[in-house]
Amino acid sequence: MVIHMLLELKDINAGYGDLHILWDVSLGIERGEIVSLLGSNGAGKTTTLRAISGLIRPFSGSIYFNREDITGYPIHRRVEMGLSLVPEGRQLFPEMNIVENLEMGAYTKRAEENFQDALEWVFNLFPKLKERKKQLAGTMSGGEQQMLAIARGLMNRPEILMMDEPSMGLAPKLVLEIFNTIMKLREEGVTIFLVEQNAKAALDISDRAYIIETGRITLHGPAKELLSMDEVRKAYLGI
Ligand SMILES: Nc1ncnc2c1ncn2[C@@H]1O[C@H](COP(=O)(O)OP(=O)(O)OP(=O)(O)O)[C@@H](O)[C@H]1O
Ligand SMILES: [Mg+2]
Repeated sequence: MVIHMLLELKDINAGYGDLHILWDVSLGIERGEIVSLLGSNGAGKTTTLRAISGLIRPFSGSIYFNREDITGYPIHRRVEMGLSLVPEGRQLFPEMNIVENLEMGAYTKRAEENFQDALEWVFNLFPKLKERKKQLAGTMSGGEQQMLAIARGLMNRPEILMMDEPSMGLAPKLVLEIFNTIMKLREEGVTIFLVEQNAKAALDISDRAYIIETGRITLHGPAKELLSMDEVRKAYLGI
């Protein structure tokens, strides 16, 4: 078996207790790519991210990061290696201010040692956060909260940033801003694994994409090709 991608899943079966959700999920992400995982409600997108980040342990199959088998590694070790997750629903600390939320994201040794550098980096990426350092997260708008959630995920200087539906609940203008940010992150050298229900916006910025239906990958290929396929247009683009 040849493992050559930055992140690679091989035949992952996973779920919750007796509940089998993911069936032989295989996918790969190369360094520098934006790759999307698309699917409808309950398809298994978040479960896939949980398996990659170590929040759940697969029943079978393997996960490789930088050619290393990380399937059995605890969460913190994966973060330390450069895998970062921006979770579904943002999961900020509403009673904490911006800087405190960013501190909560910088819990690895690597991040603690380089905290000031990382802070400067994310403040450059998100100048609005810098202007409002002391604002409580709970009082920010949805778009600003999503920016903060992304910034927190970046505090560990990840090689790959996984994002779970970053555009959820945002007005179209803010969705655009989030997707522009994702493209900017790629230019900064961060590899992106994007989970989205907003298939059009995700495919527009992605190199490749996978489609998951009831826990199985049913389609994958270059984003441009998927955008032009009838079955994708009907099921996910509403065309
Ligand atoms: N903690 C859990 N315990 C039991 N079942 C769960 C749990 N979390 C998710 N599920 C089930 O697993 C299946 C896949 O859920 P998952 O959250 O991965 O879907 P999703 O593709 O992320 O959906 P959405 O777009 O709604 O976020 C669903 O049937 C869901 O009900
Ligand atoms: Mg989900």
